[in-house]
Amino acid sequence: MADATSLRVKELPNAEVQKNRVLTLEEWQDRWVTRNIGFHQEQGHWLLKKHLDTFLKGQSGLRVFFPLCGKAVEMKWFADRGHTVVGVEISEIAIREFFTEQNLSYTEKPLTEIAGAKVFMSSSGNISVYCCSLFDLPRVNIGKFDRIWDRGSLVAINPGDHDRYADVILSLLNKGFHYLVAILSYDPTKHAGPPFYVPDAELKRLFGKKCSIQFLEEADALEERHKAWGLDYIFEKLYLLTEK
Ligand SMILES: C[S@@+](CC[C@H](N)C(=O)[O-])C[C@H]1O[C@@H](n2cnc3c(N)ncnc32)[C@H](O)[C@@H]1O
Repeated sequence: MADATSLRVKELPNAEVQKNRVLTLEEWQDRWVTRNIGFHQEQGHWLLKKHLDTFLKGQSGLRVFFPLCGKAVEMKWFADRGHTVVGVEISEIAIREFFTEQNLSYTEKPLTEIAGAKVFMSSSGNISVYCCSLFDLPRVNIGKFDRIWDRGSLVAINPGDHDRYADVILSLLNKGFHYLVAILSYDPTKHAGPPFYVPDAELKRLFGKKCSIQFLEEADALEERHKAWGLDYIFEKLYLLTEK
C-alpha cells in the first residue's frame, strides 16, 4: 500500500473534520425521492471495467457482493457473466429502478428476520437485492462472498460507523476473496460529505490486520458537481484487498 511519503501533498488533510458527520437512512432515501443521485453512473464504473480481469481472475460461478448498491449497473455485468450477485440498499426506489432499467423481471418478499425489510430477486434468481440497512444484514444468513465491489459504499458510510462497517464486510468474506474498493481523497474542510474523505491510513486501520492491501490505481475524478461543492481536486483510489 502507498505509504505517507508517496502520497500527494494535497492528500494530507486529516479526516477529523468529518468524523461526527451523520447522514441518516431517511436522508439517503430522500435523495432517491428528490433525485439527488449524482453518484449513479449509467455506464458503470470505468475503474471496475479496467480492472475486471484482475478482480475476477478468470474464475466462474462466483458470489459477488455489492454493499450500498444503489442501482449500480455493474450488478448486471456480473450476472451476465454467470456469477451470483447480492446487493444491499436502503432505498426501495433505487432497487425497483435497477430491475426496471435493466429489463429484469423480479419478485419481492418480506424478510422475516428484519421488520419492514424485503428482498428483491431477479426471475432468473442470480441477482438478489436486500432492502435494509447493511448493518442489519448480519441478521439474515446471506452466506459468504468471493468478490466484493465497494464503490460509493465505504465512502458513503458515516465516519463514526467505519468500524461496524468493516466488521460486517469482513464477516462476509469467503476464503480466497478479492475485495475491490474505491476511496476518495479531497480536502474535507471544503465539503462535509458524503462522499467522505477516506485516507489510506483509515483503509489500513480498518482492514490491514485481516487483508493484504494492494494499491491499483489513482485517478483524477473531478467533475462539475465536485466543483459546485467547492472542491478543486478529488482523486479516486482503487485498492484490491485479498486474504493475508
Ligand atoms: C453513494 S450511493 C452509491 C450507490 C452505488 N454503490 C453506486 O456506486 O452507484 C450510496 C447508496 O447507499 C445507500 N445507503 C446508505 N446507507 C445505507 C445503509 N446503511 N444500508 C444500505 N444502504 C445504504 C443509499 O441509499 C445510496 O443509494
